[in-house]
Amino acid sequence: MHLQTFQNNKDKPTMSLPLLITSTPPSTFSTKKNPLYLLKRPQPSTNHYYSISCNGDGHMEKPLNLDRRDVLLGLGGLYGSTLSFHSSNIANAKPIQPPNIGDCGPANLPANVIGQSDCCPPNSKIVDFKFPPKSSPLRQRRPAHLVGDEYMEKYARATALMKQLDPSDPRNFMQQANVHCAYCDGAYVQVLDVHNSWLFFPWHRFYLYFYERILGKLIGDETFALPFWNYDTPAGMSIPRMYVDRPALFDSLRDPAHQPPALVDFNYNLVDTNETREQRIKNNLTIMYRQVVLSRTPRLFLGAPYRAGEAPDPGAGSFELVPHNIVHLWVGDRAQPNLQDMGIFYSAARDPIFFAHHANVDRIWYIWRGLGGKNRRDYTDRDWLNAGFLFYDENAQLVRVKISDCLDIRKLRYTYEDVALPWLNAKPKPTEKGSSKRTADEFGTVSRTLSSTIRAKVKRPRRNRSKMEKERQEEVIVVDGIECRTDVLGKFDVYINVDDEYVGNPGRSEFVGSFVNVPHGHSRKDANGNAVKMTTRLRLGITDCLDNIGADGDGEIVVTMTSVAGNGADIAVGALRIEFDP
Ligand code: C2O
Repeated sequence: MHLQTFQNNKDKPTMSLPLLITSTPPSTFSTKKNPLYLLKRPQPSTNHYYSISCNGDGHMEKPLNLDRRDVLLGLGGLYGSTLSFHSSNIANAKPIQPPNIGDCGPANLPANVIGQSDCCPPNSKIVDFKFPPKSSPLRQRRPAHLVGDEYMEKYARATALMKQLDPSDPRNFMQQANVHCAYCDGAYVQVLDVHNSWLFFPWHRFYLYFYERILGKLIGDETFALPFWNYDTPAGMSIPRMYVDRPALFDSLRDPAHQPPALVDFNYNLVDTNETREQRIKNNLTIMYRQVVLSRTPRLFLGAPYRAGEAPDPGAGSFELVPHNIVHLWVGDRAQPNLQDMGIFYSAARDPIFFAHHANVDRIWYIWRGLGGKNRRDYTDRDWLNAGFLFYDENAQLVRVKISDCLDIRKLRYTYEDVALPWLNAKPKPTEKGSSKRTADEFGTVSRTLSSTIRAKVKRPRRNRSKMEKERQEEVIVVDGIECRTDVLGKFDVYINVDDEYVGNPGRSEFVGSFVNVPHGHSRKDANGNAVKMTTRLRLGITDCLDNIGADGDGEIVVTMTSVAGNGADIAVGALRIEFDP
């Protein structure tokens, strides 16, 4: 039996395969010698692998679909010899490791790719990250709609210079755009995707940090800071002028219908709606409130843990889904097959507006942490803190960073201008306790697609929770076993106890959030060439919603899920339940 997943020579591991065991699993395992067992499934016709829990009893965990990169990671010497897969050790033994650039392979991209499809950076010697000197100037990131001409000129010039660098220079604009492609389309062995997990905020923080310093260096300005697209305030909700007016910051692959003065729509379902500007602004602010203020735990806001060896895309945090993903889809050109540039991750960073979008994403993380509350804090899990990546810096040095280095932006010597947060009070209104009788069956155990609306009853393990209890723990609705293709756009909305007439109204308290997949790579193929889907999960805080709709005393709620963009038949849901965070 041999591995069938390697597509070409570049994909082949160069080391031997000591951990690959064929046929049937052994009945006992030594946890000491071989830390990771990847067993080929007995049926030779599939490319599915099982990950085995080595807790001494040969207990087999649920099967994982792994591709060649997952296989490689077990062989690449990435783990210390003491690693054990015993579940109690998992929490501090499996940080995602920086990629081995020499192993960067072809990204898995959809058909109709525009331009080059190889996203790998040049290789070179790696140095460890060092903080910039404390005495270096603090770069202040300002709202893109408020900066003056002089700044725009400077920023456009820096970007133009970046575009003129030699194409093989890792600081060249296209090389920088490809950094994003490589880290989200499965080009690397282990970090298959920096989206849909707790890697999202810190990875993008580093990405901008280096990008900003490269721009500054090119114009000899140590104080240069990126602007942020302040779309969370009414005056900032259209594409900032400079991204349209300045050729270096312009991108022709954007939706022509969304040029200024069009206002971004955080409830965008790929169709332009005709509500008034006032209504659009109000909805956007309410959505901001829901996605930022009501996501009170690290897991709800930052996304789900993603450790070495695990399947990618365990679950995005609230703000990553909405409005981050939505802004990507809204800017991308609907006339392009893949909503290039912004609407698909391999090409998103080819649009300079990407960096203003992400400066705002980064800013919102910073603000979220400062909002107070018992659970609004970063993860303290060591697998998060020690997760590592590689970036080229302003001197074209390849730098190894880890998440714990990026948690204090002052140490990174940048900051955000303080601006008003009009969404802080944009609470959805409490609604009358639903008058119509809502009945639905329990979800059951069979996975269903969203080709039609799903309505299901979910039992609540606790009711009438005290104020203190609510502050301590957030009640969470978990939409589990979501299966969808990574390379296909999809969106569905989730409501609690909603009456039909209010479905689609983002101002309602019953609307608790959305699942949004922005197309990205690493779609795996099974032996028959069919795409292997990603399995992910959506977790939404519902404590405030339940109070607002007068349902905290109820022993069960009715959850409604409805597909609003893409093809509902492409997304399946496996289970629904309530959990408490953290
Ligand atoms: Cu890496 Cu906005 O995406």
